[in-house]
Amino acid sequence: MGSQNAQNGASATVHHSSDTAETRETKRLRERLDPSRMPEHVAVIMDGNGRWARKHHLPSRLLGHAEGYKTTKKIVRAASDLGVKYLTLYVFSNENWRRPKHETDGLMALIEKATRNELAELHENGIRMRFLGRRLELTPSLRKEIERAEALTEKNPGLVLNLALNYGGRAEIVDAVRKLAEAAARGEIDPAKITEDDISANLYAPDMPDPDLMIRTAGELRVSNFLLWEIAYSEMWVTPTLWPDFSAEHLVQAIEDYQMRVRKFGAVVNP
Ligand code: IPE
Ligand code: IPE
Ligand code: MG
Repeated sequence: MGSQNAQNGASATVHHSSDTAETRETKRLRERLDPSRMPEHVAVIMDGNGRWARKHHLPSRLLGHAEGYKTTKKIVRAASDLGVKYLTLYVFSNENWRRPKHETDGLMALIEKATRNELAELHENGIRMRFLGRRLELTPSLRKEIERAEALTEKNPGLVLNLALNYGGRAEIVDAVRKLAEAAARGEIDPAKITEDDISANLYAPDMPDPDLMIRTAGELRVSNFLLWEIAYSEMWVTPTLWPDFSAEHLVQAIEDYQMRVRKFGAVVNP
């Protein structure tokens, strides 16, 4: 794991404008962490864009989302440089369609623009992009960007960046159960023999480990339908900091805190 981290760190810091200062900063942050206890998978509920816009007396929540996008770019880079292997970001939930059309339209446009504009740099940095969620409700042009990003970065060796878009934890479980029920109806599997692993294997990203650490910004103490199946034993870290104010420093604080915890998975563990 240590050498893998060093490798990720070395390969991920190539293409940015202020390279030297950034590399120094990342190195300083990385040195605070124990490379043998890194969370392999970090999941983030990026919340508080609307409150950030209000706090800054901005006329539209969309300006908060635009600021949140800047944070997302920084955190993807930081996670990659720190040697996190999987980063799953909650971009848009199934329930977020309940927002005013002006906001959902603006968000979808921002997401499409971001996917298009970031693709080259993410690819150069060896990052693999995947999208989790129901695609049918997305516009054809956004679907096209998603497919392009996934296809181009599919074989990349670095950070796996999962973007939960039009995602719901319950919908993900429903979709998995449907696939299993269909297989049972075809006589391919015996319902009595369905296991937890079978459910896991039919989720949107079946080949990734469950999140070790789940971060939520903006202070709410709830899960909001994110990764319900996968977070059974994830460690949670909540900060009052709004997503647009979140930084690599906060990410490192969360990982430092994670590294001090004792994970027990229901067993008795002597720390
Ligand atoms: C998170 O920020 C972004 C999305 C849910 C898309 P919010 O828009 O939920 O911000 P608050 O919670 O209203 O502050
Ligand atoms: C969760 O935040 C969804 C995303 C971050 C995309 P919400 O702002 O939608 O969650 P609630 O409504 O406060 O539970
Ligand atoms: Mg919110």
